[in-house]
This record gives sequence, structure tokens and C-alpha cells, in this order.
Amino acid sequence: MNRVDAPAKVTGAAPYAGDVSVPGLLYGVVVSSAVAKGRITRIDTSRALAVPGVIRVYTHESRPELPDDDRCYGDDQAPDGSPFRPLFDARIRYSAQPIALAVADTFELARYAASLVEAEYEREPHATDLDAQLGEAFARSSKKKGDAHSAYARAALRHEAEYRHAFEHHHPMELHGTTAVWESGGRITVYTKTQDVMNDRDYVKNVFGFNEDDVRVMAEYVGGAFGSGLRPEYQLLLAVMAAKDLNRPVRVVLTRQQMFTFGHRPHNIQRLRLGADANGRLQAVMHDAFSTTSRYEQYSEGYLGWSSTLYDPPSLKHEYKLVPLDCATPMPMRAPGGATAVYAIEAAMDELACAAGIDPLELRLRNYTQQKDGKPFTSKALRECYAQAAERFGWSRRTPQPRSMQEGHDLIGWGMATGVWEAWRDAASARVVLTDDGRVEVSCSVTDIGPGSGTMMSAIAAAALGLPGAHIAVKLGDSRLPRAPVQGGSMTAASVGSAVHDACDKVRRRLYGLARDMADSGIAGAKLEDVVFKNGRIALARDAAQGIDLVDVMRRSGVATIDEEVESQPDKSVSRRYASYTHSAVFAEVRVDEDFGTVRVTRIVAAVAGGRIVSPKTARSQVLGGIVWGIGMALHEETFMDHTLGRFMNHNYAEYHVPVNADVRDIDVFFVDEREDKLDPIGAKGLGEIGVVGTAAAIANAVYHATGKRVRDLPITLEKLIG
Ligand code: MOS
Repeated sequence: MNRVDAPAKVTGAAPYAGDVSVPGLLYGVVVSSAVAKGRITRIDTSRALAVPGVIRVYTHESRPELPDDDRCYGDDQAPDGSPFRPLFDARIRYSAQPIALAVADTFELARYAASLVEAEYEREPHATDLDAQLGEAFARSSKKKGDAHSAYARAALRHEAEYRHAFEHHHPMELHGTTAVWESGGRITVYTKTQDVMNDRDYVKNVFGFNEDDVRVMAEYVGGAFGSGLRPEYQLLLAVMAAKDLNRPVRVVLTRQQMFTFGHRPHNIQRLRLGADANGRLQAVMHDAFSTTSRYEQYSEGYLGWSSTLYDPPSLKHEYKLVPLDCATPMPMRAPGGATAVYAIEAAMDELACAAGIDPLELRLRNYTQQKDGKPFTSKALRECYAQAAERFGWSRRTPQPRSMQEGHDLIGWGMATGVWEAWRDAASARVVLTDDGRVEVSCSVTDIGPGSGTMMSAIAAAALGLPGAHIAVKLGDSRLPRAPVQGGSMTAASVGSAVHDACDKVRRRLYGLARDMADSGIAGAKLEDVVFKNGRIALARDAAQGIDLVDVMRRSGVATIDEEVESQPDKSVSRRYASYTHSAVFAEVRVDEDFGTVRVTRIVAAVAGGRIVSPKTARSQVLGGIVWGIGMALHEETFMDHTLGRFMNHNYAEYHVPVNADVRDIDVFFVDEREDKLDPIGAKGLGEIGVVGTAAAIANAVYHATGKRVRDLPITLEKLIG
């Protein structure tokens, strides 16, 4: 099945939050703080207000009343602490925080007015450097098993190193934006960029004191988010505040520069110590991680425990500390924690393999585990991933010595790594309506930020009801629809997909009940398990000629619509008894120009074990995208902080490097057979984030194999290689 939203997206017909056309719309433009820390001592909006067409300029002094209680600003994804409150007071907590909103008849006027807002500050010293602030680190979480210190001390093979990963930003193509529109009867409809319309609806309700029914949040199309849309961002509050105050529709869209002002993947340092016996079997893993947070919230990620998931060593000691900086609170970014931690673990495993003279793939196989912390996996076809990807890649032809695979001027390197991501499932509801023209509408509040969730829902309904994909319409991204969990953590297929499946199952039962009672239906008296839904018909499984069209079943029964809504719940006993993960094996080839230090990723082969692949085309595309992220993480992406200003410097697409087409060569993604029968009724595990996990390590390991130089500080840029 092709992407169901592709035609609307490529023709420009798909309305995003900042595209919705509304009569009488006003435009708001955000003014950002010029300092990183301190107080606003004077803010003067008079020049801005003097411009004809400028309606209002909101500051902490001139804004309408907002609640004092910071709990009103919480949301489902908020970490511990006190959430940022836009325009709340004179305090500056981080560089470029919003300090004013200029509202005008046109976007151009609003932007001009914003440029005329004058602010003076009393500056306070700020701290934005992780290394300089390590002394302020505080413990966040830890994990311990056995006596890792002595096991490490006794180990025949030891590896110890520090791995680093720069600040990164999300860079969805669609800017964060909100269009807040008054409807009749004091209701407000908010079109916004979000990964969770329910989270944003509750936020608007709590901050502004609306009734739940009076706020509708819509995000029918989302142009990427990658975690940046998990929490309500400040443009949402500002747009709704202005719309409510002015009783007019208001749109606020951030600039590309402002996309760097509300969250990022935290800068982090990981110290790893691996101890193994002479055969390479891990005896101890010690993992100490530091990552940055803000001064006002304690944002943490899951760095710990991935070595247990991958290798289940007999002893381990993990510690995780947070380092507060005068920055916005970091936020989840594609495979948060996992992408970073698995990079460090899988690079360290490569180093251990090289030191021990064991093939890196062989070292993984010697440490293969069928359980995590004593729990078996619901399914795990990682061994098949390793074997099939190695075969396709040609791994057996690798010569282990670094710098041994040269071609002309190019140093060629082959590296591999494992990817893993938790396969979550959460409660979700969906509604399926079949009408007697054989058409189906599937609906759910879930947003589709790009992975193809709408296509997945269509594919499940089409298969369950035996109808062509063209007959299935999907409605999503609307807080009025049956409740879905946040689109995050790669759990949409397992959660929403299960709800769609269960709702279709009820529709099937209704149809079966009607047809069974029709003497000439061909299935009269048959059991449910003896019939199939195929080609628009319900028929006997053993003899497809014995059956009846679904539309005839409905028409002859006088049933115009069959309408079923279900809430589908995960089985809690499964997560108590099992660990559930999606796995991958990634093999990478790089070519490094020895003189210039330039690295090209010429080939990647990735095998993924994700249970049943519901929608093969979008699944593959999703993993391809994740691998491109992995290339960026390994070689390109870094947001540079100017510590003098306390501000991210390269806040634009030109200077924040992401892989472009020329950086992306041959990527071969395929799925191995894996039978998943515990997590959910459709047998699917999440695929959203697995592509990025492991890819950076495979590339870093390939760079070492090419050059003999180990760069442990991502991204691996040319000055680090030739320096
Ligand atoms: Mo993802 S970082 O769970 O959007």
C-alpha cells in the first residue's frame, strides 16, 4: 500500500497548522531574549505599537492574566521541575526565550513590530558548558547487579573509554506553529504542530481555564517532529492567549532560528568500562553517563540498562547524573537515550573486539542473550538479523586489520553494530464505521508525524475486512476522535494498530452474524473461524465460491452502517513476565579520503526484526529515514554553543549540518521473519526509531577500521580525523 497521505502532501493540498486559512486572521511574531540569564529591567513596546496595523504587543507586563500556579503548565511529558511559562515574569532563564509577542494584521507588519520592541536587561552570569559544570552534576538514577568493580578488576580483557555526543536539534521541515480560531459559542479550535492533540488540549484547558469540550486541538498533518512536538511549545500558549484576549483568530509560527529555542538532544558524556573473559564473554559493564538539563526542569533520558538488553552481563554498575545549564530544557529526540547509549556501548564493544582479536560480529554472538534482567523476550530474531545482514553485506570478506582495505586514494572501512529499541504498547481507542457501499472510515485522535500511521491503519482495516485500500478513509489528528496515546516512542502501530484491529474484529463479527443467518449466503451455519473476509466478500475459508458480498449482507439486512469503537488495552501480565524489544543489525561501509579526512558512507545494510510488518513500504521508508539520522549523528549534526553569549550559534539549516542527498548513498533495509504473539493482536512491534539506533556506532566503527583512528566524540568531523 502506498502512503495514503502522499497525494495531499506532494500536491500541497495538505493543510499544516500554519496553513489553515481563516477570515480575519491576525499574525503574531515572537521576540526572543538577547541574553541568556538575568532580568528584563525595561521593555518598551511604544515604537512597535505606533505602527499602523499593529494590534497589540504582549510582554510579561502587558499580557492578560495567566495562572500563577506552575502546575497548570504541566503536561504529560513534563519532567520533574517547574515548566517554562512564556511571558510570565521578567526572569530570563535561557538565551532567546520568548519575551514578547507582536500581533498585527499581516505577518510582515507583525515581524516589523517585533523588531521595534526594545528590551534592557540586568545580566547574570550564565553557564552553558557541560565540561565546566561537571562539578554541579547530581545523581539521577543508577542500576547495579553483582559486584561489577571486582569482576572488572579480574577480567582477562578490559576496555575503558569516554564517549561524547554533541547537542543536537530536531529540524522538522515544518516550523512549530499554531493557528487558534474562535468558533461560535465560546469554543476554540487550535490547529497546532504536535505529537499529541490530547496533551495540547489538556494544556490549553488547564492554562486558560477552558472546559474540555470547548477546546478542540487538530493536527491532521504534521511535517516531522522527532520528539520536538511531544510537549506543548510556547507558540501554542501565545497564540491561544492572544486569540482569547483579542477574540480573533491568531497564528503564531516560529522562525527557523526560534526552532532552536525550546529544546534539544542534551549534550552528554558516557564513560564505559567493559570487562570480559579471555573468550570475550562480558563479565562486567560499568556505565557512567552525564547529560545536560535546564535549571528549571530535570530532564533525563534512558541511558542505563541497554547493556542488559543487548548482552545481559552477570555484573553491572550504572550511574547517571544530570548537569544543569542555563538552557531550555532538553527534550526527547528520536530514540532518546537509546540512540546515544547504544552508540557508546556498540563502539566500546568494537574496541573490545579489536583489542581481543575477535571479529566484532562474533563478539556479539558470544554475548547473545535470550533474556533481559531475567525476563525472556516476547520475540527476538536478532540472530537472523546478524546472519542475513552480514551475508548481504559480504562481511566474511572483511580483513580485520585497520587500513587494510584501500582502493586508490580511499581508505575503506567496514563496521557493524546492533540496534535495539523498546517495543511499547499503550492503551488506545479507535472507531471503524462500515457503510453499505462497502466503504470504511477508521478514526482515532493519533497524529501522524511522518511514519505513515494513517497508512498502517488503512492497511490493517483493509486486511481485516477484505476490502481494497482505496475503500478505507482514515481520520486522525483531532482531539474529538477516540483517544490515542502520544505519537512517540515508536508505539503507534502496536497501540493504535491493535485498536483498529479490535474494532474491525467487532465489525467482522457483526457481518458474520448477519450472513450466518441468511439461508443463501453460502456461509449459513458456518463457524466464525471457518470464514474469511476477502475481495469484499465473506466466504468459506475452504471454498471461496461459497460466500456473499459484504454490501449485500448489509443491504439485505437493512443495516446502513456498522459502527464500532473499542479501547484496546495491553496485557499487563506480558510486560511483567517478558521484555519486548525491536532489534536490528547494521553494517556500514565508509570511504575516507586520507588527505582531507572526508568520510562518505557508501553502503549500509540493515536488517530489522520488528515482528509482523503491517505496511512494508512505509516501514522500510521509516527505517531508511532513521538510518539517515544515524549518518547525521555520526558525521554531521552538532549545535555549537557560544559560551560567551550562552547561545546556540549555528541556528539555521545552512550551518547545522544534516545529511543531504549527496551524503546518502546505498542503503539496503530489509525485515527478517519474526513471530511476535505476545505484545499485541497484530504481531507488530514499533519501527519508528530503530533505524537511528546502532547506525552511528556502525559508521564510527567503520571509520576506525578504515583509518586506525578512534574518534569517540560525535560527530566525527574531518578535523577530528586528521587532527
Ligand atoms: Mo519520539 S523522541 O518518542 O518523538
